[in-house]
Amino acid sequence: MKKIVLGLFIITAACSQKKEEQIVVEVENVSYYGEQHRLQFHFSPEAHWMNDPNGMVYYEGEYHLFYQYYPDSTVWGPMHWGHAVSTDMVSWEHLPVALYPDDLGYIFSGSVVVDKNNTSGLGTAENPPLIAIYTYHHPEMAEQGKIDYQYQGIAYSTDKGRTWAKYENNPVLPNPGIKDFRDPKVFWYEEGQKWVMSLAVLDHITFYSSPDLKSWTKESDFGFELGGHGGVWECPDLIKMGDKWVLLVSINPGGPNGGSATQYFVGDFDGKSFTPQDEETRWIDMGRDNYAGVTWSNVPEEDGRVLFLGWMSNWNYAQVVPTEKWRSAMTVARTFELKTMEGKHILASYPVKELEQLRGESMTVNASGTTVDLMKGGYQLADMNLTVISEGEALGQFELLLFNNDADTLRFGYSEESQSFYINRDAAGNNEFSEEFNGDQLAPFDLNSKEMSLRVLMDVGSVEIFVNGGELVMTSLYFPSSPFTNAQLVTKNPQPIKAEGTIYKLKGIWNR
Ligand code: FRU
Repeated sequence: MKKIVLGLFIITAACSQKKEEQIVVEVENVSYYGEQHRLQFHFSPEAHWMNDPNGMVYYEGEYHLFYQYYPDSTVWGPMHWGHAVSTDMVSWEHLPVALYPDDLGYIFSGSVVVDKNNTSGLGTAENPPLIAIYTYHHPEMAEQGKIDYQYQGIAYSTDKGRTWAKYENNPVLPNPGIKDFRDPKVFWYEEGQKWVMSLAVLDHITFYSSPDLKSWTKESDFGFELGGHGGVWECPDLIKMGDKWVLLVSINPGGPNGGSATQYFVGDFDGKSFTPQDEETRWIDMGRDNYAGVTWSNVPEEDGRVLFLGWMSNWNYAQVVPTEKWRSAMTVARTFELKTMEGKHILASYPVKELEQLRGESMTVNASGTTVDLMKGGYQLADMNLTVISEGEALGQFELLLFNNDADTLRFGYSEESQSFYINRDAAGNNEFSEEFNGDQLAPFDLNSKEMSLRVLMDVGSVEIFVNGGELVMTSLYFPSSPFTNAQLVTKNPQPIKAEGTIYKLKGIWNR
């Protein structure tokens, strides 16, 4: 225990000199990362406020995760970029804050690229720089009622992201007179030998291009009349997947289950404009708790995966959830895959295979009935791989319950009545902090099969459900009085259902 506290002391001291003493005093009585509601296999900051993932880049064996961070409080405030690295996207090492606010403003969301050809001239040919492209948000200008208080700046690092210098001629993309003008995500467009930036501009995305990351030219606008428009557009990401392109756009509010959510469009991109396959609005995750997610840049070609991670919360209640020392965690890292359904491309997501290294002992499930015990006094952290099969004509209504011995219960399953997959956390523990936390989370789902596969990742206060290989995903937080260790499958229909599969116990990532 002593050693762990010492380890935390050093890291914390590096993170925030000012808070050093206070934090050490706070953690002395708890085992490392063992506080109530601290997720055990999801990334969270040691202390204080976190929102969006930023600057996700793979470089020389490390996955970098920067994030919107306020190191002085557990609610949102002047934004910094926090920083962590991982070799596997599962276990994380906390590093000192990477970017601090300056005279141009707070450091809002953005991306990091490897400038391999040193197009910016901010590194050398032998040691190409990492370039962070981010939004400056000027709080005083905002307070004065001005509208041009968001603009884009860059910073560079030539020591594997450990230290950063701001570019002296910031901003590189000034504000053209639009209030919401933020969250640049940049990639190298090989066909056109230029950088392309996707930027969220109030209610649409604007694409810009650049030869050197320092001067930007507008290419096109997308989305004025497409997708959800119940809120402001944020955190875009344009991704090449085979010969198709996928555009992620977060929106808040206006998500399908209230508040924040991330929509996506599949289509074509010609270096100037994005053209979607159709006019439908689709969502990468139908749960309430996956927002502002984007993909890692510079993933090696031989790996070939598109790797994603999101902020596991929702602006509707993120700042009032009942955690004391820190606020918010990230989803597990996921891979994207384009699937074709009824002639349309849909984006499936699934946990990265690296997560399987956390698997420990397991139990086999093979039982049938109208009530099936899947786990009784079992694992607090679980990776459930189940197929739910109808023993009658069709798989109708069923519900999976996760619960503890304090009568806290999380429910999810399929409702014939609403033709939806759903999650309900109304009775899953502390839910009094926000009205918007409660009520069914619904995902319309056409269940025309006798079976459904479910991958369920259960942490001590979050569940990530991947239906049929990730065709439907639902991510949801909850705050039980003690971790769930029981799982039961029930149906109200007379025909029994069968559950087959394996439930693995997972190890936590902090105390291994
Ligand atoms: C999304 C967001 C971004 C912004 C950042 C500020 O959650 O609102 O648009 O850059 O958070 O922290």
